[in-house]
Amino acid sequence: IRDDPAAVGEYVGNYISRRINEFNPTPEKKFVLGLPTGSSPIPTYKHLIKLVKEGKLSFKNVITFNMDEYVGLPRDHPESYHTFMFTQFFSHIDIPPSQVNLLDGTVEDLIGECNAYEQKIKDAGGIDLFLAGIGEDGHVAFNEPGSSLVSRTRIKTLAYDTILANSRFFGNDLKKVPHMALTVGVATVLDAREVVVVVTGQRKSLALSKSIEEGINHLTTLSALQMHPWALIVADEDATAEL
Ligand code: GLP
Repeated sequence: IRDDPAAVGEYVGNYISRRINEFNPTPEKKFVLGLPTGSSPIPTYKHLIKLVKEGKLSFKNVITFNMDEYVGLPRDHPESYHTFMFTQFFSHIDIPPSQVNLLDGTVEDLIGECNAYEQKIKDAGGIDLFLAGIGEDGHVAFNEPGSSLVSRTRIKTLAYDTILANSRFFGNDLKKVPHMALTVGVATVLDAREVVVVVTGQRKSLALSKSIEEGINHLTTLSALQMHPWALIVADEDATAEL
């Protein structure tokens, strides 16, 4: 537990940096990092960018896989997760664009896209560290309430609550928010060797308490993390209000 979102970002940024540096990635043996979008990881991305600028960290031998992407939004749409990741992070670090992986929600064969993504993760040697955020209903990636806890990358219809929460990025117009997304599954997240979750703000406090203080269940998909041997949740004070 840290004081505020900035302190959480600094802690998690340093943590990820330490993991990458300890791993000592090379062109033959790259570090594989899973990444989220959302406002919660922004302070972490800021801190990682700072470490790269200071020469303390490099992404030259890091491969990234993003968690999710809206269906039907062109990649260059201002609210696509593709745009978000490049604006907030990738454009400011030294990662070769060929090592960045994001689901494409504009292709005709969406199921093929999801299956190929799972295969790509396998071919990369699996994810070493998956960084995640959490939805107000306790979802991880776009694994909405009711998602199978053994789910893999697939198409998901977004829950009304998620559409409502994300409408703030679409001029508060519910009709403009995509209603479907491609997302890694709960099992895809659990397969990572390590999972780190950033939870900030009071509006996440109920989701956090349900995820860690109640039983594992598919209505709060982050609760599946209780089964993971190496998981870390970094929260700010506000997010702990219900613990
Ligand atoms: C979306 C994303 C999640 C993210 C959540 C919370 O649903 N698919 O990966 O954790 O939003 O976003 P925020 O951090 O902005 O609250």
